[in-house]
Amino acid sequence: MKGVVLAGGTGSRLFPLTKVTNKHLLPVFDKPMIYYPIQTLVDAGINEILVVTGGKNAGEFLRLLGNGKEFGLKHMNYTYQEREGGIAEALSLAEHFADGGPICVVLGDNLIENNVRQAADKFRSQPRGAKVILKKVADAQRFGVAEVLSERVVRIEEKPRDPASDFAVIGIYFYDSSVFEKIRRLKPSGRGELEITDVNNFYIEEGTLTYELLEGWWTDAGTFESLLRANNFVAQTGANKLSGASVDQLGRTSGKSA
Ligand code: DAU
Repeated sequence: MKGVVLAGGTGSRLFPLTKVTNKHLLPVFDKPMIYYPIQTLVDAGINEILVVTGGKNAGEFLRLLGNGKEFGLKHMNYTYQEREGGIAEALSLAEHFADGGPICVVLGDNLIENNVRQAADKFRSQPRGAKVILKKVADAQRFGVAEVLSERVVRIEEKPRDPASDFAVIGIYFYDSSVFEKIRRLKPSGRGELEITDVNNFYIEEGTLTYELLEGWWTDAGTFESLLRANNFVAQTGANKLSGASVDQLGRTSGKSA
């Protein structure tokens, strides 16, 4: 399975921090933000990685990451998103790279305490479809929110005013190769973007979307509050820990709360 980090977009919610640089190059404690999602992929056993970036500072990614030697990689792939057309539009640029195989997609501003190796292994043995990862949060309105009925995700709503549950869909997704055909069927949302939530809902309609629950902390880092939270989490407990179970199916957790 190959991996894709999505690091396009304008980072307008972090203006003026993002006036002269890309959001994913900002520091989170002792590393640039993009180091964390790349490490998430490497920890899941993925060593072929594409970084999708955009905006005025795309060249800086090459200077920073080179061929990924710091992550134990032999090579790093890059592509450029011309405009902020949404997460699904950024992902569409990975079709050639995916080359008909399954992919793991990580949003460039998503950080986790542990790892998603178990989820990746389960997805590797899933014949087709997609897998999302859920995390119980206190501010579900900020995210894609999953409605779960008898151990199945029956619907995902993007930034609902009145969330159906406390389960946010985090920015780590597993897809089979049909994801690109699904992206071609999307229509822009109210905010003018091709939404990853609409892609996930296509998989739900098809009956091929599975999920896991994440253990340990998760945060995005795309607002001042969440960027501060990300810094504090990493400073206090560290990120991308390899030890310990990190995902469990709902109802079969080992005593830890989601
Ligand atoms: O963090 C998880 C959430 O991320 C999910 O729960 C939501 O369902 C999903 O839509 C997304 O929500 P946000 O509105 O917070 O996403 P944002 O626009 O901040 O984009 C997240 C990352 O995706 C960003 O750091 C870079 C990448 N991106 C985004 C856009 C809009 C791109 O590469 N290109 C884009 O055009």
